[in-house]
Amino acid sequence: MNKKVEISFQNEKIELPVVTGSENEQAVDISKLRSQTGLITLDRGFKNTGSTSSSITFLDGERGILRYRGYSIEDLAQHSSFLEVSYLLINGQLPNINELNNFKSEITNHTLVAEDVRSILDGFPPRAHPMGVLCSLVSSLTAFYPKSLDPNRSSEEINGTIIRTIAKLPTLAAWSYKNRVRQPIIYPRNDLDYSSNFLHMMFALPTLNNNVNPIVANALDKLLILHADHEQNCSASTVRIVGSSHASLYASISAGINALWGPLHGGANQAVIEMLEQIRNDEGNVKKYVQKAKDKSDPFRLMGFGHRVYKSFDPRARIIKKTCDEVLEQLGVTDPVLDVAKELEEIALKDQYFIDRSLYPNVDFYSGIIYRALGIPTDMFTVMFALGRIPGWIAQWKESREQNEPIGRPRQIYTGEKQRDYINIKNR
Ligand code: ACO
Repeated sequence: MNKKVEISFQNEKIELPVVTGSENEQAVDISKLRSQTGLITLDRGFKNTGSTSSSITFLDGERGILRYRGYSIEDLAQHSSFLEVSYLLINGQLPNINELNNFKSEITNHTLVAEDVRSILDGFPPRAHPMGVLCSLVSSLTAFYPKSLDPNRSSEEINGTIIRTIAKLPTLAAWSYKNRVRQPIIYPRNDLDYSSNFLHMMFALPTLNNNVNPIVANALDKLLILHADHEQNCSASTVRIVGSSHASLYASISAGINALWGPLHGGANQAVIEMLEQIRNDEGNVKKYVQKAKDKSDPFRLMGFGHRVYKSFDPRARIIKKTCDEVLEQLGVTDPVLDVAKELEEIALKDQYFIDRSLYPNVDFYSGIIYRALGIPTDMFTVMFALGRIPGWIAQWKESREQNEPIGRPRQIYTGEKQRDYINIKNR
C-alpha cells in the first residue's frame, strides 16, 4: 500500500507521498508542497532533509553501518584495494580482473600533470596551506582540459575526466606538500601502486630515492578506502550542487575540497592533533579540556567527537582504531599524543554530557594519529582525506548528472527589512 502523510493548513488538507528506500528508510516527498499550499519547509543545516535519492552509499547512524554499493566497509577495508573501491563506487559493481587491470593501467598512465602546473605552483608562498594549493591546482585543470567545460560533453570525455582526476590527484597533493616544505617536486612512478606512488612523491628527493615501506603503503590504502565516500555530507552535497549548475567535474571537485577543509568536517583531523598537543603541553590535563567542552560559555569542542549522523558509533573509527594500534606496533612508534587520546576517549565516553548527546569518537579522532606515525605532516592530514574522498565525490557528481538533477537552489524565509525609501547619503 502506498503510504501517505496528511497535512492540514488553513482548513485545507493535502496528502504527500512517502518514499521508501531499499533499506526501508522513509521520506515525505514534499515536491508539491509549495504549489499546493504556498508553504516551504525550513530545516537549518538540513538535519531532516534528504536532498536526493542515491544508490552509492548506505549509512545507518543508529546502528553504526556503512556500506559502499551494498558492501560493508569492514569487508572492503579488509579485502579490497583503494582503486578497486574507487571502481566500485563509480561504476556500481566490483570489477573483474580485466576490468580492474584496465582501470589501474588507465590511472597509472595519466599520473603526470602538465609542466605548466609547476609555474602555478611556484606562485604560491611557502606558507600556503596545502588544501588551498590543492583546490586551486584541481581547478586549474580546466585550463588544460577545456573540453571538460562543455556541458554536452560525451561519455568518453566524462570518463577521461574521471580517470585524470583520480590519476592526477596524488601528484597534485604531493606537489602541494613539496611547495610547503620548499623541496623540488618529485614525478610519479608508474611501476608503483597508487598509495606507494603517492608516498614516493611526498618523501623522495632528487638526490635520495625513498623506498616506500609496504606497511605504510598498506595502512594508507586502508585509510583511503575508509574515507572514500560518506553519502550526502557537506562536501559531497557541495560537489553535487556545484555540478547541478553543469560546472565541470574539476570545478565541482575543487569546491568539494574547499567544503572539506573546515574544522567541523575534514579539517577536524588536523584540529584533533593540534588539540591533543595542546592538552599534552598543558600538563596532560585531560579533565580540564573535557570540562571546557561541556561549558556552554566556552567555544571549545572536543575535536574528533560527535557526528551528524552516527549516534551509536562511527564504524570507520573502530577500524581505524584497530589499524592505528597495529601500525604503531609494526612501525615501533610510541606517540605520547596517543596516551592523551586514549585517556580523553575513556573519560569522555563515561561522562554523562557525552552520553546524553551520543558523542563518540569519529573517523578523524584516530586517523591523525596514524598519519603522524606514517610521517605525514599535520597540515597534510585534510589533503589525505581529500585524496581518499575523490572517488566518492566523482560517484556523487556522476550520479547527480545521470539522474539529471535540477539545479540546487534552496529557498529561504526572509527576515530583513520590509520595503523602505532610499535615503540620500547626506541625510543618513
Ligand atoms: N564537543 C562538545 N560538545 C559537542 C561536540 C563536541 N565535539 N559535538 C557536539 N556537541 C554538543 C553540542 O554543543 C550540542 O549540545 P546542546 O544540545 O547542549 O546544545 C549537541 O552536542 C549537538 O551538537 P550539534 O552541533 O547540534 O550537532 P551537529 O550534528 O550539528 O554537529 C559535528 C556534528 C559538527 C560533527 C559536531 O559534533 C562537532 O562539531 N564535532 C567536532 C568536530 C569534528 O570532529 N568534526 C568531524 C566530523 S566527521 C567528518 O566530517 C569526517
